[in-house]
Amino acid sequence: MIIEPRMRGFICLTSHPKGCEQNVINQIEYIKSKGKINGPKNVLVIGASTGFGLASRITSAFGSNAATIGVFFEKPPQEGKTASPGWYNSVAFQEQAKKAGIYAKSINGDAFSDEVKNKAIEIIKTDLGKIDLVIYSLASPVRMHPNTGVLHRSVLKPIGQSFTNKTVDFHTGVVSDITIEPCTDEDIKNTVAVMGGEDWEMWIDALIKADVLSEKAMTVAYSYIGPSLTEAVYRKGTIGMAKDHLEATAFKITEKLNYTKGTAFVSVNKALVTQASSAIPVIPLYISLLYKTMKEKGIHEGCIEQIQRLYSERLYTNKEIPTDDKGRIRIDDWEMRADIQEKVSELWKKATTETLPELGDLKGYKSDFLNLFGFGFEEVDYLLDVNENTVIEELV
Ligand code: NAI
Repeated sequence: MIIEPRMRGFICLTSHPKGCEQNVINQIEYIKSKGKINGPKNVLVIGASTGFGLASRITSAFGSNAATIGVFFEKPPQEGKTASPGWYNSVAFQEQAKKAGIYAKSINGDAFSDEVKNKAIEIIKTDLGKIDLVIYSLASPVRMHPNTGVLHRSVLKPIGQSFTNKTVDFHTGVVSDITIEPCTDEDIKNTVAVMGGEDWEMWIDALIKADVLSEKAMTVAYSYIGPSLTEAVYRKGTIGMAKDHLEATAFKITEKLNYTKGTAFVSVNKALVTQASSAIPVIPLYISLLYKTMKEKGIHEGCIEQIQRLYSERLYTNKEIPTDDKGRIRIDDWEMRADIQEKVSELWKKATTETLPELGDLKGYKSDFLNLFGFGFEEVDYLLDVNENTVIEELV
C-alpha cells in the first residue's frame, strides 16, 4: 500500500516500514562511524523498539558487537493497516543484526507482566547464559500490576496548584496558554506505579533469582530533570515523583547486586522528541527553543548521539563512572549548561505564534516527529507501494 502520515493530536496513526528502516540504518551508520566501544557483550533492553531504548540496543549491537534481547510492546500490522513504528524499527533492527551476524531476539509483550519476564529469562538461559547489561527504557501510560491486577494510569499533572504556561501545537505552530489542573493523591500513586522504579526492581529481582546476571553486571534506567520552566509539569509534577522513585530504586538495586559486584545507575538524558515526550504539554515548546539554541552552538544531539556518549564516555571508559551528587549519570549536561538555559529562557519570553518560526526550531521538531513514524526521509520514495505486513525475525 501507499502510506501517508495521518495525524491525530500528538500521535501519528500510520507509520512507514521503509522510513522506519531508514531511521534504524541511519542510527547504525552513526554508531559505526564513531568506532568500537569496549562495551557490553550480552544485553537485555526493556523498551527496545523506539527512542532511547532503540538507540541503546543499536549502540550495544553495532558499537560493541553485543547480543541483544529486546522487549517492547508494539502493534503488529494488519492487512491494509500499518503497524506501530516500533514494530517496523524492530523488523529493520533484526534484519540488520542478522546481516551483520550479531545475535538478536525480540519479545513483543507487556514488560510489566511476569510472563514476559519469564520469557526473557528463558531465552537468556538457553542462548546467552548470563547478561552484563540491562537497560530499562520503558515509557508507558498504563501498567497492569502483576500482583494485584490493578490497572494504573499515569498522568502528567502539577502537584498542589494549577499551572499555567505557554505551549505550542507543533502541527499548526500556534502558541497559546495552557492551564493544567493539579493532580489528586491517587494520581501521584498511579503515576509512580507506572513510571517509578517498582517494575525495574521486579525485573532485577527476577534476573537475580534466575542467576542470569554476570559479575559486575550493570543496569541503567533513564530519567529526566529539565529546567525550572517545565518543572511544575515535569520534575515537580506527577512524573517527577515517579522519576524520584526510579532514582531512589537505583540505590536499592545496587545493594541487591552486591553479591555480583553489580551496579544500578540512572542516566539523566536530554529532552528529545519521542512519542513519550510529545504527549507532555509545554515540553514541545521548550524542545523547539532548546533545539534551536543547541543547534546554533553545534551541540545538538538525538537519542543515538546521547546513548553513544553514555556508553563511550560514561559507562565503558575503564575509569570510575562519573555521577552527580545524587549518584546520577548526567548526559543532559549540555542541555543544562548555563548559557543554553539562559538563552532558552530569553527566547521563551518572546515566543508567540508569530515569532516562534524565527525563534524556535519548529521545523526540526516537526521533522523529528515525522521521522519517529518513518516519514520525511529523503532516501525513501513515499509514492511507492510498500508491504505493510512485515514480520519481525527472531520474535519469540
Ligand atoms: P518511547 O516512547 O520512544 O519508548 C518507549 C518504549 O517502551 C518502546 O520501546 C515501547 O514499546 C516500550 N513499552 C511501552 N510500554 C511497554 C510495555 N507495557 N511493555 C513493554 N514495552 C513497553 O520513549 P522514550 O522517550 O525513549 O523514553 C524512554 C525512557 O527515557 C523513559 O523513562 C523516559 O522518561 C526517559 N527519558 C525521555 C526523555 C525524552 O525527552 N524523550 C528525556 C529523558 C529521559
